[in-house]
Amino acid sequence: MIAKINQLLEEVEALKAANAEELEALRIKYLSKKGAINDLMADFRNVAAEQKKEVGMRLNELKAKAQEKINALKEQFETQENGACELDLTRSAYPIEMGTRHPLSIVKNEIIDIFARLGFSIAEGPEIEDDWHVFSALNFAEDHPARDMQDTFFIESHPDILLRTHTSSVQTRAMEVSQPPIRIICPGRVYRNEAISYRAHCFFHQVEALYVDKDVSFTDLKQVLLLFAKEMFGADTKIRLRPSYFPFTEPSAEMDISCNICGGKGCPFCKHTGWVEILGCGMVDPNVLEANGIDSKIYSGYALGMGVERITNLKYQVKDLRMFSENDTRFLKEFEAAY
Ligand code: DAH
Repeated sequence: MIAKINQLLEEVEALKAANAEELEALRIKYLSKKGAINDLMADFRNVAAEQKKEVGMRLNELKAKAQEKINALKEQFETQENGACELDLTRSAYPIEMGTRHPLSIVKNEIIDIFARLGFSIAEGPEIEDDWHVFSALNFAEDHPARDMQDTFFIESHPDILLRTHTSSVQTRAMEVSQPPIRIICPGRVYRNEAISYRAHCFFHQVEALYVDKDVSFTDLKQVLLLFAKEMFGADTKIRLRPSYFPFTEPSAEMDISCNICGGKGCPFCKHTGWVEILGCGMVDPNVLEANGIDSKIYSGYALGMGVERITNLKYQVKDLRMFSENDTRFLKEFEAAY
């Protein structure tokens, strides 16, 4: 028996395990109920009485050593695993590429910045709108073609609900909840029922501006437009206003800037006119002020609205509108340095 114990002691001293499974196999072999040590324990009662004391002590010693050894091996594994964690925990598992700001966001932010410096603050409204805020409160006649299904996405089961076709709807939302002075800039996405091509999309982005106060005149509008054009396209930029028509402004105008690609000399981009159109504007029609709870005898205002894609195209000459919504990272990465 003593010889057996000594042999097992030697074995236990030399135990090695490469992984947790091997270790568990060793534990079962030596320390489980059916393990080698328990087998010896079971034999203990056959030991001669005078040897019992010594054998008993040696057996206990063996069991303790085996337990100790197994525990030591186990600890070694655990510290090895923790050891891996002692590496730099802040290191990412794989390289994360930095995203880039979308060109439309870059340009939208630039527009906002320019107007913010003039005291305009941002106002937002819902993209899913109702007829009142998009059309009626903006003086659109009942039979205005923009109300046609051809141009506007309506909710089939509820023809009063539609996707806004312009951010001018935010004007009405701002006016109905506040009194002048109102000086807001409204960036946002708009929707129109257009076939998608390189020059048209069913959604795009606009920025609208509205200023209502006492004694606001067309001169104020013109000055803001000139400043905006110079800030956005460079100090040499010239502007010109052409008479136009919008239901919500009277008088209305469209603004061209001197073509920033050829500097006004004429090129294919400006169709050799030297001018490119960038926005619509005008004095807020008194009907619109009244419809939105503002006294048109006391207050007047101007409004303007521009397409963010259009401005972005002018700045970066993106030839295909679809590029803006396809999320091709090769395209998006070109704007890495732009902000
Ligand atoms: N809402 C017009 C459009 O979508 C743009 C516009 C024109 C906005 C004139 C205005 C404005 O505020 O005064 O085409």
